[in-house]
Amino acid sequence: MMRNSSETVTRAARKPLATRRIDRRRLLELGAGLGGLALGLPLFGCGGPEPEPPPCCEPRDLRIDRLALAIQHEYGAIIQYCNHAALLQPAADDAAPERRLYQQIIADEVRHAIDLNAAMVRLGARPGVAIWPPLLADERRAMLDLDIQAEEGAIELYRSLLVLDFPPPTLSIIRRILADEQRHRRLLLALPPPPFDTP
Ligand SMILES: [Fe+2]
Ligand SMILES: [Fe+2]
Repeated sequence: MMRNSSETVTRAARKPLATRRIDRRRLLELGAGLGGLALGLPLFGCGGPEPEPPPCCEPRDLRIDRLALAIQHEYGAIIQYCNHAALLQPAADDAAPERRLYQQIIADEVRHAIDLNAAMVRLGARPGVAIWPPLLADERRAMLDLDIQAEEGAIELYRSLLVLDFPPPTLSIIRRILADEQRHRRLLLALPPPPFDTP
């Protein structure tokens, strides 16, 4: 299922930081699609145009790279959902169903990010704080669609993590997060469609 090995990641690590951006197609090729969201992959790269990477860049561990990607996904989701909670429900009404739902999902995503950071530490890695590039939409229907896509990307990503050789406690964290992301997707799909924005 994982067509690319750590060799692919190692090759990516040899490129300068500015060129290490991959789109969804690339992520899907790597077995870690993220719902159409472009991500900066490595959190641990050393950068620079040297033909040979400095010692800190290798050997790379595919499990750590994928966990780093998942953490970026979670950080991005937290920020995206804060933004969309306000834009989808502009009235400052914490009782509004859309806002309550987003607050619950954001709390889940925060827990996911903390659990994944802890899993990386247990593997001997030091997590970074990079996030995916921000995604903006002008229209509320498009915002909700982006959020549903983000959950679908997360589901793909966590399914791809399940085939890696993680220790059992980490696998159980990944399974729990996957179940959360599937629930988030269902909840967002069940939201009533937002009204079309007028220009
Ligand atoms: Fe999450
Ligand atoms: Fe989620």
